[in-house]
Amino acid sequence: MNKEEVIGLDKKYVMHTYSRIPLVIDRGEGVRVWGKDGKEYLDFISGIGVNAIGHCHPEVVGAINYQTKKLFHCSNLYYIELEAKLAKALCDISFADKVFFSNSGAEANEAAIKLARKFGSKQNVKLYEIITMKDSFHGRTITTLKATGQTKYQHGFGPFTPGFRYAPFNDLKSVRSSISDETCAIMMEPVQGEGGLNVACQDFLKGLRQLCDEKGILLILDEVQCGLGRTGKLFAYEHYGIEPDIMTLAKPLAGGMPIGVTLAKERIASFFEPGNHASTFGGNPVVCSAALAFLKVVEEEDLVEGAREKGEYFREELEKLREAFSFIKEIRGKGLMIGLELTFPGKGIVEECREDGLLINCTAENVLRFLPPLIVQKKDIDEAVKILRRVMSRM
Ligand SMILES: Cc1ncc(COP(=O)(O)O)c(C=O)c1O
Repeated sequence: MNKEEVIGLDKKYVMHTYSRIPLVIDRGEGVRVWGKDGKEYLDFISGIGVNAIGHCHPEVVGAINYQTKKLFHCSNLYYIELEAKLAKALCDISFADKVFFSNSGAEANEAAIKLARKFGSKQNVKLYEIITMKDSFHGRTITTLKATGQTKYQHGFGPFTPGFRYAPFNDLKSVRSSISDETCAIMMEPVQGEGGLNVACQDFLKGLRQLCDEKGILLILDEVQCGLGRTGKLFAYEHYGIEPDIMTLAKPLAGGMPIGVTLAKERIASFFEPGNHASTFGGNPVVCSAALAFLKVVEEEDLVEGAREKGEYFREELEKLREAFSFIKEIRGKGLMIGLELTFPGKGIVEECREDGLLINCTAENVLRFLPPLIVQKKDIDEAVKILRRVMSRM
């Protein structure tokens, strides 16, 4: 099929929930992808943070190939070796003692919310309310949409699950004053991805941890986008010297395969009892084999330290652009999760970059978002910055 035929078929048969870019990606390898028309692109959005070890990493391909010849799926009626191994691996590298597996970020957050409410239901006075942040993003289900502190995603879908309140990001005082007698948890992203690459400041996240301890409520961190090495630490919470009670992961964990994970301390995880929660595909052996391969690659290729180093280099290069172009307001982020705020909407720059062979995207209207794979090399960064400079010079 050629590009036009694919687009025609999509327009006819796929529900129009996405405003798609007219590009059909046919093949990917490492930090590059190729369109149906044969054109090569440098991929600096990597499937919105999913392809963190690049496209079709041989370790992940090998793991999937091996497992598909052995067992695809068997359900959670039975014990699954790879699910148990992946759970152990995740607990070994994080604060957590127990793990629940699902298929996406929204599903991982749903499980986190349910677990927090189950914890709340067992307190002396029933607690159910969760405080989330303005400009947050937690998913598209009816509950996670309500947890998301951006009303633009919510229009037309109410009534929503009750029990959410929003507080301004990085405003500890407001969070404190939002806590009621019914609050069971505070939920937030250490680095807001969809909301414009906003980084939690040290005092804020440390203060939230203290506040949760003082009030006897839970701290839930959504590391769906910022977790697993992206920020230059394996988990973003490590930058702050604190630990959450519950954390969610998804996007990059299975090297491009769908996965969601909800991790918790034993004292919280134990509130879930058999029958309380489930997901048909959660812990799927093929997906878990891909995730184990992903973790191996991240460790063996020292990608977390690499993300910190290359992130610093990338930001320095972007700062040079800021000096050259007065329409760049700010550059912010952590590691290889970087936002470049413009004084105008970024859609045009995104389109022109694509024309010139660089894939990026724009979030919160005017923030260019860079999520290159962690395997990116300095020469790839140089190439991307060269394209950006060329495109910006034309603005
Ligand atoms: C921080 C965060 N949480 C949750 C989600 C939802 O993940 P999914 O689209 O896999 O449901 C996203 C997706 O962008 C996200 O960035």
